Amino acid sequence: MSRAARFKLGVIKRTVELTIDGISVEVPEGATILDACNKLGVVTPTLCYLSTLTPVNACRVCVVEVEKARVLAPACSRRVEPGMVVHTDSERVRHSRKMVFELLSSSVDMSLVSGEVKGWIESYGTDAARYGPPAPPTEAGERDARHAGHHHAVDGSVAETVAQPVKIDNDLYVRDYARCILCYKCVEACGEDAQNTFAIAVAGRGFDARIATEFDAPLTDSACVYCGNCIGVCPTGALMPKSEYDLRQQGRWDEARQKVTQTVCSFCGVGCNLDLTVQDNAIVRVDSPLEHSVTRGHLCIKGRFGFQHVQNLPD
Ligand code: SF4
Ligand code: SF4
Ligand code: FES
Repeated sequence: MSRAARFKLGVIKRTVELTIDGISVEVPEGATILDACNKLGVVTPTLCYLSTLTPVNACRVCVVEVEKARVLAPACSRRVEPGMVVHTDSERVRHSRKMVFELLSSSVDMSLVSGEVKGWIESYGTDAARYGPPAPPTEAGERDARHAGHHHAVDGSVAETVAQPVKIDNDLYVRDYARCILCYKCVEACGEDAQNTFAIAVAGRGFDARIATEFDAPLTDSACVYCGNCIGVCPTGALMPKSEYDLRQQGRWDEARQKVTQTVCSFCGVGCNLDLTVQDNAIVRVDSPLEHSVTRGHLCIKGRFGFQHVQNLPD
């Protein structure tokens, strides 16, 4: 091996020193507060952030207190500055995060969130019930027809929700927007961050904001190419492969009986890595690892949905 080959060449970055929760940390210039927190092992809850997507600052659950700043700063996108003094667990930060978790939990069906997100919701003492009983679901399409700026007075006896029927208009995946926290991740994955198809976007304003296709067309009439990259990034189960949805509806989705097997997609020579979720010897869901340098978690329609030729799902 030549001497040059032994060293990774690249632009040397200046570093920035800051203090987080009283501990000094040095990170490369351009890093975010979240990067610095991760370096120190300080756990910061996030919902709309994903390492493979551009931060959109939509959820504000990652906020931290920066000394001498008037407002709380989103850790996922705020760049570090020399001498910054950050507090991640102050009373103000905890109060703000709790409120975000409560507003989301009172209006959205969060029952499928798991892992660290579920842990955060519980650890912040989220009390969604204090906003009152949930309002009944709207009719199919009612929320989609709402016009921006046309607000109606609320009577305050119930908590407003986004509950509505599931959209099932194709054989590959379903959209259950009663579970949507409007994190924008699907929009990013469908757009510039991965697919560049731009089949979906945010329509409406305020509480009426929702993810929509152009003119709210069914997916089959939209620009969607069924790559399923939106499913891969959705943190709440709002977007789900039909194979998983059907098993859940039948009460047969059982994570205790599932194994995830990593393999390589056989459809073309790109060599995308696949995580096959297998239950009862049948593939029930396909994802790709976020850290795979080729896919960064994204696939095409063949890799994500073209598994029926391997074996059929049991009846
Ligand atoms: S399946 Fe792919 S193309 Fe269709 S909406 Fe999702 S990300 Fe966009
Ligand atoms: S459908 Fe999922 S990924 Fe898209 S905005 Fe809603 S919660 Fe986020
Ligand atoms: S994770 Fe930072 S604003 Fe959502």
